[in-house]
Amino acid sequence: MARVFSGIQPSGELHIGNYLGAVRNWVALQERHECFFSIVDYHAITQSYEPAQLEAQTFDMAVGLLAAGIDPERCVLFVQSHVPEHTELAWVLTTVTPLGELERMTQFKDKSQLQESVPAGLLNYPVLQAADILLYKADLVPVGQDQEQHLELVREIVRKWNRRFGAGFFPEPQVHHTEAKRIVGLDGQAKMSKSLNNTIGILDDPERIWQLLRPAMTDPARVRRIDPGDPAKCNVFSLHQYFSPADTVDHVADSCRGAKWGCLDCKRVLADNIIAAFVPMRERAAELRAHPERVHEILRSGAERARAVAAETMAAVRAAMGLLPAEKVALRR
Ligand code: TRP
Repeated sequence: MARVFSGIQPSGELHIGNYLGAVRNWVALQERHECFFSIVDYHAITQSYEPAQLEAQTFDMAVGLLAAGIDPERCVLFVQSHVPEHTELAWVLTTVTPLGELERMTQFKDKSQLQESVPAGLLNYPVLQAADILLYKADLVPVGQDQEQHLELVREIVRKWNRRFGAGFFPEPQVHHTEAKRIVGLDGQAKMSKSLNNTIGILDDPERIWQLLRPAMTDPARVRRIDPGDPAKCNVFSLHQYFSPADTVDHVADSCRGAKWGCLDCKRVLADNIIAAFVPMRERAAELRAHPERVHEILRSGAERARAVAAETMAAVRAAMGLLPAEKVALRR
């Protein structure tokens, strides 16, 4: 059975962008593969963040994932910082990672441009990502297009480490693609992302979903209600394709092209379908929030199961690299 690893940052809410782009795929993969899914809090701290909020955001992400169908009976769900081997292997892997490759990463270039002083953590972000994947010797990594370059670097790190310390020790992980394309945010401009405030949370209540959708960007050609539009240029239409049944999608396209209705009419139909799609998840989330101890127990057991695998990999890595085994000095880890 193939091993799968993926990570998601604790941005708090799970929104329709990361749901359609990643998490929906995770839910399907857990049926067929041995899956490890991690809330990557050590990645989150490489960018400016609010320490007072991180804990709640991590918990909320766990609730969102469980509500969305991540099933602790079918996969291992855990918080990255609960498994210390992640940072341990990350350090080890920095010793075989070419600095030039790290500097070449587009995500690093984009994010470092926003800062005057660039923390080394931002540069080493993909090395921690490599450690995440390699601790579990994962074969498949479901991620969006924006992570492909990082995965290529992970494969290079694997080749370098294997060549030096142990042929075939780490498998070269492959990207597992999702059918969903990049989900564009409500501003119609950029990828949907919490930090850009252009998302709809899968747990948002019906009124909030409508308030978010109402001002969403549509085809700019539709200035007045009588102006015909082009569904291909409208992000609201692309969301209909994910949330509305085929005959509704046809009706939406026809009504838009023929200026038979206004954008608000179109958005109302979409809002109702998004609301309906997430009703069961809102219910599950409410149930979990009422019993936080259940979430804690899931994360505890997930971290223990992850750690059993991670510790074994790390011990083999240390041995292959010639570090004095702690057991030799009778030290218990
Ligand atoms: N960098 C990924 C993202 O921003 C999150 C992530 C961290 C990840 N570690 C990972 C994804 C390991 C896949 C595998 O989406």
